[in-house]
Amino acid sequence: MEHGHSLLIRALQEHRPSWLERRGLNMLEIGTTREPLATQDSTRILSKLCQERGWNFTTCDMDPRNTARAAELFREMGAPFEAVTDRGEDYLARHRHAFDVVYLDAYDFDHGKHSEERQQRYESILGSRIDQHECEVMHLKAMQALNHAGRRGCLVVIDDTWREKADGPWLGKGPLAVPWALRNGWTSTYQPEGYRAVVLELQEDYYDLHRRVSRVVRRTARRVLAA
Ligand SMILES: C[S@@+](CC[C@H](N)C(=O)[O-])C[C@H]1O[C@@H](n2cnc3c(N)ncnc32)[C@H](O)[C@@H]1O
Repeated sequence: MEHGHSLLIRALQEHRPSWLERRGLNMLEIGTTREPLATQDSTRILSKLCQERGWNFTTCDMDPRNTARAAELFREMGAPFEAVTDRGEDYLARHRHAFDVVYLDAYDFDHGKHSEERQQRYESILGSRIDQHECEVMHLKAMQALNHAGRRGCLVVIDDTWREKADGPWLGKGPLAVPWALRNGWTSTYQPEGYRAVVLELQEDYYDLHRRVSRVVRRTARRVLAA
């Protein structure tokens, strides 16, 4: 199985080729590289792509060890990128129309094989060991915040998210986030085989519709109050 950051790059090449020719786009990664493993390394790979394209890049992780390592990487690259220590869902909730591309690979799903060191990082920073429900809720909150923090046509990849059957339940990080997103302005039409990750795209007219509905709600509320 290929990793989610490879799917993100493929989705950009095949679904947003014109973006790759534009400078100044904003990419956010939630879940910074924590171990220098060949199978992970998304922070280095995605930040390099952003540097080559003239994009901005921010990575966010709850663990200051990981963000310190990312900040050191950005210094070595000579790139003005940011490494933020925060819960990703809280960081997103403070932003409006800020990100074009988001790689969501944060709170680990509970596959039962996490090292004691990882478990202790969760315990000391978030207050408890890795918990499947917390993982699902964290990714749900991040997707909900992205309905405001995403820019028009925002493209999101959630890693470690898959289905055993085409109509089966979502597993891994996305059991709550993906169904919610599909009911709330996101589509998932680009799903090549061979990845345990899902691509979500904010419908182009999402903010237009949203503004229209808000206007109708405000107008109706004024009429009800005046009656
Ligand atoms: C699977 S690792 C990320 C791997 C990285 N994307 C890579 O491929 O190299 C998950 C990361 O999420 C971080 N994390 C867990 N909960 C988080 C949260 N609520 N907000 C931000 N980061 C979180 C962990 O500290 C860990 O570094």
